[in-house]
Amino acid sequence: MSLSFRTLDDVDVSGKTVIVRVDLNSPVDPETKKIQDNERIQAHAKTLRELSDRGAKVVVLAHQGRKGGADFLPLKQHAELLSRHVGKPVKYVPDLVGEEAERAIKGLKSGEILLLENVRTLDEETKEASPEEHAKGALVSKLSKLADLFVLDAFSVAHRSHASIVGFAAALPVVAGRVMERELRALSELLEKRERIILFMGGNKPEDCIKVAETILARGRPEIKTLLSAGILGQLFLLAEGRDLGEPSMEYIRKKGFDKLLDRVKDLAEKLGEKLQKPVDVACDADGKRLEVSVSNLPAPGPIMDIGGETAKTYTRIIRSASEDDAIIVKGPAGAYEHERFRRGTAEIYRALAESKAFTLIGGGDSSTAIRLVGLRVEDFSYVSLAGGALIHFLSGKKMPGVEILKRS
Ligand code: 3PG
Repeated sequence: MSLSFRTLDDVDVSGKTVIVRVDLNSPVDPETKKIQDNERIQAHAKTLRELSDRGAKVVVLAHQGRKGGADFLPLKQHAELLSRHVGKPVKYVPDLVGEEAERAIKGLKSGEILLLENVRTLDEETKEASPEEHAKGALVSKLSKLADLFVLDAFSVAHRSHASIVGFAAALPVVAGRVMERELRALSELLEKRERIILFMGGNKPEDCIKVAETILARGRPEIKTLLSAGILGQLFLLAEGRDLGEPSMEYIRKKGFDKLLDRVKDLAEKLGEKLQKPVDVACDADGKRLEVSVSNLPAPGPIMDIGGETAKTYTRIIRSASEDDAIIVKGPAGAYEHERFRRGTAEIYRALAESKAFTLIGGGDSSTAIRLVGLRVEDFSYVSLAGGALIHFLSGKKMPGVEILKRS
């Protein structure tokens, strides 16, 4: 991955109309339909404030949810939260390509910020198409006539070839915003400047973990020093070596179809050999209490919810002994950290990561919630990515249309 892309440092935005694609996609309370404030909104607010302070007329595009989903909402609330974090009013119009949007864009003064409607209300937005094809659609053809520059600030949507992500590259000059710039620099630090990598893989999306590990293994560089397995992936490695996890955990694994991953898990275990660390004990839910069970005493009487104390001790020792030339990628928590009694594994691992000399990258949508719950701050790590699906896509070696367009300019 080369870092040859232009950023906000390379352009004069004063008096210019700048379209900025950010990612405001936020968790939504299913009852009240209120969006929760989050790191993404706070991070993009800084890019918007910089553009505004530098005298740009700022037009913001973003999405919330997917059409038909319960979290598919207009962006009015997002404008209110953005206003708070930018420290200036962020206007909102519930329109994208109609007269209301056009009037509002033309009426912007230097330093003013305007958020348009959820881009996914337009059917053309989510078509996976080339920049040139999208440039023929209403969104790009209408808005690019009113603007001078396009800023792509959201790495977390850069795996999509949607109109608002790639289309403007065929019509306007493009630069990376500050959030995009930080994400790309952190990933380049990790994949290009480090020789050895430690993977900590937990959480409940084992297929994502497998894909990432398979890709890094196939690439050969950076070399995987150790894979510390926890969460569902840890359970699958135990299952693959013939352990009986117990019916409560097996029921969940079958329900989610994770048992279909067993061949890939076995293959990965074989390829990793001694570089693979599996849990030596687990913590299960036994009638509402945390019960630790050594792997040799499985099956567990209740669902497995965390790694056990011995496993945490081994994993934290490995993390603490990593050198500053190493990188550690963290994917997911060790267990069900949202329940206090199953937070211990995640807390111990994350604390060791925060103290580690290695470059630590924590990935995934809600990792900042886990970080807060274990009493740490995002700043305690080298980099906490704001991307979920996009990061996995990237680490799985797939092309990122939103990163490709940055290379055009
Ligand atoms: C995310 O929340 O990961 C991004 O906003 C992308 O959302 P999507 O998966 O609906 O495209």
